[in-house]
Amino acid sequence: MNTAQHSNSSHSDWLNLPSLNTSVKSLFTSYLLVIGLGALLASAQILMTHGMADGKPGLSIDDIVYSYHGDPAHSKIEKKLSGSMRDKASEVDKLEIIKWVRKGAPKNQWDSQIKNIFYTNCISCHSVIPGLPDFTQYEEVKRVAKSKSGATAASLTRISHIHIFAISFIFFFNGIIFSFAIGIKQGLKIVLISAPFFFLAIDVFSWWLTKIAPGFAWLTIISGIGYNLCSATIWFISLYQMWVLPKNGKIYSINTWRND
Ligand code: HEC
Repeated sequence: MNTAQHSNSSHSDWLNLPSLNTSVKSLFTSYLLVIGLGALLASAQILMTHGMADGKPGLSIDDIVYSYHGDPAHSKIEKKLSGSMRDKASEVDKLEIIKWVRKGAPKNQWDSQIKNIFYTNCISCHSVIPGLPDFTQYEEVKRVAKSKSGATAASLTRISHIHIFAISFIFFFNGIIFSFAIGIKQGLKIVLISAPFFFLAIDVFSWWLTKIAPGFAWLTIISGIGYNLCSATIWFISLYQMWVLPKNGKIYSINTWRND
């Protein structure tokens, strides 16, 4: 009995990253390298889509707010009033229009005040020239006063579930590989393996929160930094233990999957 138990445990003493045979190492390594490439491409894509959302390169809180919440200052009418329609009204009138637009273009104020500004400055063209919006109609003004909208609930639902399913698998395989790492305190290992899943959930949750209230954009940044740091740590330690550690000729007799 005793000998059977003894030989049993010594049989699994190879269950650690430095001692795995080369075919398993090549599987783990190929996976890690391609996933690493994927992560670089994903970062590039985030920088190109979200990174430019505020018109400036680089990812910022504003980018995240514009992407998920939308941007009240980027309505078509506000853009035109500082662009090709710049000279169509006095500074005072333009300011009144912009203030009203940023409030969400309320109907009651249109009737009492804003309508007159449009009648004085705009409708000589915007009611007679075909193809131009007719600014005698509140609905048409409202349409160009709409702010750049953020993500819709439909698109967020779609990317949320794809994101969660796909990335969970990545974290799962990263975690399996890293579970064979030696010399790392159990507690730290547990954190590095499970924290990415929690950051992932917080990340997706923060998109919805940011859609509702722009103040939550920092949560997206923090969770993104969180799982990237954990994943990068797992990535480097795993590759190091598979290929650099065994070079010193030492035999590592540790079963990393057994609770000691
Ligand atoms: C002299 C004629 C004229 C006047 C006055 C005028 N516009 Fe225009 N507006 C145009 C023309 C022409 C275009 C289309 C070309 C362009 O977008 O610059 C246009 C386009 C626009 C658009 C874009 C519409 C769209 O759906 O693409 C907005 C918004 C706009 N004007 C707002 C205003 C406002 C607000 C005023 C009054 C403060 C005003 N315009 C006064 C001629 C005029």
